[in-house]
Amino acid sequence: MHHFEYRASHLHAEDVSLDVIARDVGTPFYCYSAATLRRHYRVFADSFHDCDTLVAFSVKSLSNLAVLTLLQKEGAGADVVSGGELARALKAGIPADKIVFSGVGKTRDEMAAALKTGIHQFNVESVPELQVLNDVALSHNTSASIALRINPDVAAGTHDKISTGRAEDKFGIPWAQAREVYNLAGSLQGISIKGVDVHIGSQITDLAPFEKAFNRTADLVRTLREDGHQITRLDLGGGLGVPYQHGDDKSTPPHPEHYAEMIKRIAGPLDVQLIFEPGRMITGNAGLLVSRIIYNKEGESRRFLILDAAMNDLIRPALYDAWHDVIPIREPAKQQEKVSYDLVGPVCETGDTFARQRQLPPLEEGDLVAFLTAGAYGAVQASQYNTRPLVPEVLVDGDKYAVIRKRPTTEEILAMESVPDWL
Ligand code: LLP
Repeated sequence: MHHFEYRASHLHAEDVSLDVIARDVGTPFYCYSAATLRRHYRVFADSFHDCDTLVAFSVKSLSNLAVLTLLQKEGAGADVVSGGELARALKAGIPADKIVFSGVGKTRDEMAAALKTGIHQFNVESVPELQVLNDVALSHNTSASIALRINPDVAAGTHDKISTGRAEDKFGIPWAQAREVYNLAGSLQGISIKGVDVHIGSQITDLAPFEKAFNRTADLVRTLREDGHQITRLDLGGGLGVPYQHGDDKSTPPHPEHYAEMIKRIAGPLDVQLIFEPGRMITGNAGLLVSRIIYNKEGESRRFLILDAAMNDLIRPALYDAWHDVIPIREPAKQQEKVSYDLVGPVCETGDTFARQRQLPPLEEGDLVAFLTAGAYGAVQASQYNTRPLVPEVLVDGDKYAVIRKRPTTEEILAMESVPDWL
């Protein structure tokens, strides 16, 4: 459920026409709906209202400070994976004791910064990381609260590039070594064991792999307790998918309430604090990318719509073969016959293709289109490839809107670089 709809024949974000934003901000731009972000956060958090829960929003999915501030006001914590994301979360007012630090490659400096602020927990992914964290904590006369991220060896049935819970993936501590590594952690003075962490992948649309992984993890919690460890937290990661393709029932994800029921059944008896790291589920459908058609080009065998957005603005189709529904900003007439288009950007690569042979109402040069479900992993993965300026972001809330990341000028982009005087 989102708050983008046609009103008076024009696509609106809440009460604001996207035409108006395009006129004021220029294209391309990302637009987020505050009501949708709040709604998704609440649906998730409310599903666990009867449990001790920390909802640590996965900052990587959409890390704009305005969005983090909005979610912080809803009570969200943060799941961060770098010192930069930690700084963002703190700047947005998210209390340190609601922040978890994930990721396979935390550096000493990042660990030290997180320890100083007193974050809730580090999710540790390897023995070498555990040893370095112990070292850093001791050198700061403190101890680090941790969960070990365990790799449950479960295939999530999602795209290869975003599957993380199989034995061959780089993430987490191998299942068979879990007890041994917990015993090692228990012997380290700078480490304070709090829980177990698991995250099996992203855009998962079926409850079965979650259930399998969580059952294994619950068994592990019982075993670790028998081994004498105090396990008081269970971090179940993120990964709940969102619908990308209108009318495709196969990719319809489970409702958060069903996800919650399954988890309560498995984890309820363990009496632990539940931690979640949802990203896409909160931000995916809360954002779209608006672009203008520069040219309508008749190819040998295809008709191309060349847009002013490109793979540097939204890389998901190029990188993961991702599907994003595309709709015109001006509402098409109901009975209009569809035309088959390839939607491409101006970047000099064939990979700069958003969609092939997409059936759309007839479109003209100058028309605006929106890529739906682009809130998660859209703007955050944008680059300045081809010296195209970083795509701006706009937040709508009711009848108000604001640019929450501006489009840099070419001068600003060039000012980041310098030519050594010895050249
Ligand atoms: N926790 C951990 C440890 C993660 O690695 C991730 C995502 C999440 C939570 C949040 O997962 P979510 O709830 O958003 O599925 N760029 C890709 C997705 C990469 C996901 C990386 N990890 C895409 O555009 O599909």
